[in-house]
Amino acid sequence: MLILGIETSCDETASAVVEDGTRILSSVISSQIATHAVYGGVVPELASREHLRAMVPVVRLALAQANTKLENIDAIAVTQGPGLVGSLLVGITYAKALSMARAIPLIAVNHIEGHIHAVISQARLSAEPVEFPALALVVSGGHTHLFEVTENFRYRLLGKTRDDAAGEAFDKVGKLLGFGYPGGPVIDLLAPHGNPGAVRFSLVKMKGNTLDFSFSGLKTAVLRWTEARDLAGELAARRALLERNAHPSLEEWLEVTPRTTLDVVASFQKTVIDQLLRRAVSSIEEIAARSLIVSGGVACNTGLRLATQRAHLPCAVFFPDSGLSTDNAAMIAAAAFPKFTRGEHADLTLRAQPNLALA
Ligand code: KG4
Ligand code: ZN
Repeated sequence: MLILGIETSCDETASAVVEDGTRILSSVISSQIATHAVYGGVVPELASREHLRAMVPVVRLALAQANTKLENIDAIAVTQGPGLVGSLLVGITYAKALSMARAIPLIAVNHIEGHIHAVISQARLSAEPVEFPALALVVSGGHTHLFEVTENFRYRLLGKTRDDAAGEAFDKVGKLLGFGYPGGPVIDLLAPHGNPGAVRFSLVKMKGNTLDFSFSGLKTAVLRWTEARDLAGELAARRALLERNAHPSLEEWLEVTPRTTLDVVASFQKTVIDQLLRRAVSSIEEIAARSLIVSGGVACNTGLRLATQRAHLPCAVFFPDSGLSTDNAAMIAAAAFPKFTRGEHADLTLRAQPNLALA
């Protein structure tokens, strides 16, 4: 049973072929980061145009790498939302065309459900599958959500960000400090070289739902920190470095980043991780979770992975491989499999839903 997945919700054009919801035969991701980096963030109009350009070659490559043909595909899975409407439309339109041309089912998938299934399907192939109820912490550039996940893939929202997503906070702070876009991976790389206790950012306490998140105050605190200092010299040095080389090495970053800035980077990252883990620990207790699933781009963060290990949580912990943490289409095809078996097919009236909620 082969599902061809298509994902175009943000700035990656992705396609994958997945067998029986678990075995990834191919996963092709065409990243637009270089297009958007000059603007310091994703430009929606450019994203749609890039998806249009990449869509057909990416699907062809996914089929070729899986050593198969469109004729062997049993269903087409596509991200319906949440995401950028123009970007989603490119994937949905192409998926509809493929499903109609081949007369095979079309399956609509929520992008966040995809992130969760990236982990569940990978674990199913290992000796230790995810046990339910599970707590899913989805942390990416667009989302910071906690869900209870039950055996039959029902979701209950426990908490979410009231302002910025965790990845967005990484990217905004990265931009403030001149680390280019996206800032998350660079902050992750540099954080171990600073003192995480050097700058004490306050931990937010939420009124109302205490499992909700908030990162905008932390971002503002970093802004205030930069305003209180003269960073012009080091910012210019980092800008020059990025102009010479779009992907500087650790050594190159360390040459243009003084100790005080490394300290703020480490302290910022620690504060984000503390907030994520505290909410996760409370939620695990609340729902008596047997597994914790962490997914989305920020799940790549080394500091988060280490802190989660060291927290000795009372349940099994699952992180996806890095390639499955950030946006990809294998997770969309994997999430579509149970829907396919339940006969939950979409039809040609399927529309992009930029604010689609999972629960
Ligand atoms: O899941 P994803 O590819 O796209 C969205 O659905 O948003 O996540 C991208 C986000 C970006 O904000 C990026 O900075 C962040 O994930 N990210 C990281 C790391 N790698 C990617 N954040 C912290 N540490 C990382 N290693
Ligand atoms: Zn995502």
